[in-house]
Amino acid sequence: MPQEATPATVVACQREGDVLVVTIDNPPVNALSAAVRRGLQDAVAQVAADPGIAAVLLVGAGRNFIAGADIREFGQTPQPPALPDVCFAIESLDRPVVAAIAGAALGGGLEVALSAHYRLALEGASLGLPEVQLGLMPGAGGTQRTPRLVGAKATLDLALGGKPLDAAAALALGLVDRTAPGTDARAAGLAYVRELLADGAPVRRTRDATAGLADAAANRAAVDAARAEVAKKSAHLFSPHRIVDAVQAALDQAFDDGMRTERALFLQCVDSPQRAGFVHAFFAERETAKSPETRDARPRPVARIGVVGGGTMGAGIAVAVLDAGLPVAMVERDDAALARGRGHVEKVYDALVAKGRMTAEARAATLARFSGSTDYASLADADLVIEAVFEEMGVKKAVFAELDRVCKPGAVLATNTSYLDIDEIAASVGRPADVVGLHFFSPANVMKLLEIVVPKQVAPDVVATAFALAKTLRKVPVRAGVCDGFIGNRILAVYRAAADHMVEDGASPYEIDRAVRGFGYPMGPFQVSDLAGGDIGWATRKRKAATRDPQARYVQIADRLCERGWFGQKTGRGWYLYPDGARTGTPDAEVEAIVAAERQRAGVTPRRFTDEEIMRRYMAAMVNEGANVVHQGIALRPLDVDVTVLSGYGFPRFRGGPMHYADSVGLATVLADIQAFAQEDPVFWKPSPLLVDLVARGATFDSLNRAAA
Ligand code: 3HC
Ligand code: NAI
Repeated sequence: MPQEATPATVVACQREGDVLVVTIDNPPVNALSAAVRRGLQDAVAQVAADPGIAAVLLVGAGRNFIAGADIREFGQTPQPPALPDVCFAIESLDRPVVAAIAGAALGGGLEVALSAHYRLALEGASLGLPEVQLGLMPGAGGTQRTPRLVGAKATLDLALGGKPLDAAAALALGLVDRTAPGTDARAAGLAYVRELLADGAPVRRTRDATAGLADAAANRAAVDAARAEVAKKSAHLFSPHRIVDAVQAALDQAFDDGMRTERALFLQCVDSPQRAGFVHAFFAERETAKSPETRDARPRPVARIGVVGGGTMGAGIAVAVLDAGLPVAMVERDDAALARGRGHVEKVYDALVAKGRMTAEARAATLARFSGSTDYASLADADLVIEAVFEEMGVKKAVFAELDRVCKPGAVLATNTSYLDIDEIAASVGRPADVVGLHFFSPANVMKLLEIVVPKQVAPDVVATAFALAKTLRKVPVRAGVCDGFIGNRILAVYRAAADHMVEDGASPYEIDRAVRGFGYPMGPFQVSDLAGGDIGWATRKRKAATRDPQARYVQIADRLCERGWFGQKTGRGWYLYPDGARTGTPDAEVEAIVAAERQRAGVTPRRFTDEEIMRRYMAAMVNEGANVVHQGIALRPLDVDVTVLSGYGFPRFRGGPMHYADSVGLATVLADIQAFAQEDPVFWKPSPLLVDLVARGATFDSLNRAAA
């Protein structure tokens, strides 16, 4: 049983001569729980009562200073003391307070540091205001103290961008006073405190700082620019607007008034559904990184990686591996294909060099870890091989036969197949326990999602190895079972079909894309199809034509476009027109004419759909198939569906994922929609047994997440 956290166990106060060392020790990341806040308050009281204390040093135990507020507490009844009060009390002390920062000083953690009088950042420190990524804003003086120190622009960059600074950048900005090598915050901090005491350094409160406010015109311009930028790029997000308002208050109001303004805006953010969505996504991603196998089995060591196939995916995967610092050996079927594969990889780094984001030396050093061959023998010493050849069972099996022949015992053999039966691939080799699915998304060096597909015979340590690899590659892993399309593509096929049905029923593809963007997606499904290339879906549809349920509705409009060679951006037209290589499409009257003709052929009288009607169907289809995927054990929990759709398919993060969204709408409402739609098409709109069961029990998807925890 973990020891119960009390203020005394999570905040330790220890005298080093006349210095009080206050250590925040609240694993795993020293979040500012109520007990920590009370512990800090007690420490302040101890200093106030003891004139023998000449200075205070704040440090974090373990790898971090303080990772911020305890995110788990949001949405619960607030416990005193509030963090702004703790910060104010620290800052008000009449003897110097020094924060020595190793690791993360994020959000509330940076706000505590800003309430100290001096700041020292160690090598590897990470300082930032990432609250915006949780649908929040700094709520303990971050928007009031930071501008006084470093001005409005730097504050807005930190709070709206959410990206942390390293120690050197924080020093250059003036966010910290000094940097030090190493990671021993206590030792470096004590040395700094002694120096300050010897110099007679005064108490220096950030709330009284004026340097950042000196250039009023620049600050005003920064706020105006940020407001315009937020209106343009984050109009649908709640907290960025409040962040700008709060920084403006720092310019316009006295400190205490500004703090009150910040608090009011912060509490609005805490109460917003967006905060709940973002926080759900944050914890869901940490849950999917663990699987039953990662608890019980140890990963096999992976130092050398092989990739078979140097096309879109093979090359992207090779870049992901190179970016993680590992060597990669690529195998292609002939010299010409290998040269193309190598070219794809080089192109990525050439572009970085051209943009000034990589030096020529770093490019050369990275590519030195890349080797290519047409001979499978080059994979003999690979610890893990990822196959990314054509999506055909015969070709995959031939490749796996080669891998079975050349790879060393214990090598993990992975396939990047999108749809094929991995059990069948595994059964075709003499070592089925070593075969696993690693389903990357395109572009594989950019997209975060990695579905780890777990076939029947796989060994637990192979699954654990796949999760460890995901961490090395900085991917977001989700465990999926074997089925057609796994979690993501299987759900995509269903909501995409719902969109196609709506087009045939009267909504234009442009209206659907607009409604989906209005919901918060960066792009609508028809824009995505144009970007990915309509030929990919066409090939899949043709492959599946023979096994398609003859009762199921099949909309042929996309086929009509593909038959004309309109595959999207790469052919200059698809659902949209892309004149002269334009990246943004314009609606195409000819597409609308084809749609009209297809409606007529199908005997449909078109009707109008509002954006809300479009989204109800789109989401009902997504949620229903998500429920099926959980019901059949393809996804472990609803949160695995959420993370898949968030990280791989552009679902708006502030909505937390489709299953969280369904909970927020109410499952009974979603089920009622599906039942209503089923009146028109009972084959497509079959309520998932899981959804029916949850509604009958008055339960939520989240109850299943918690039951599994
Ligand atoms: N509150 C509660 N739990 C937290 C937490 C937080 N702020 N930050 C991390 N955790 C938990 C994680 O859930 C995870 O728990 P688990 O082991 O049970 O799954 C554990 O700590 C470790 O987290 P990671 O797996 O993310 O560990 P990493 O070492 O990869 O990363 C980190 C560490 C960079 C600190 C990262 O966890 C992080 O970015 N945390 C969030 C930081 C943040 O957003 N802070 C702002 C909070 S809001 C705020 O401060 C409001 C204030 O202005 C009033
Ligand atoms: P691609 O056609 O771009 O590349 C396939 C490569 O495999 C070609 O370079 C080809 O020369 C090579 N190849 C074929 N047979 C080979 C053999 N026997 N030995 C060595 N190399 C061989 O295809 P893409 O898009 O890269 O897809 C590869 C796999 O990844 C497929 O299984 C696909 O379903 C899957 N996938 C594709 C995604 C995408 O968006 N393109 C996304 C996720 C998975």
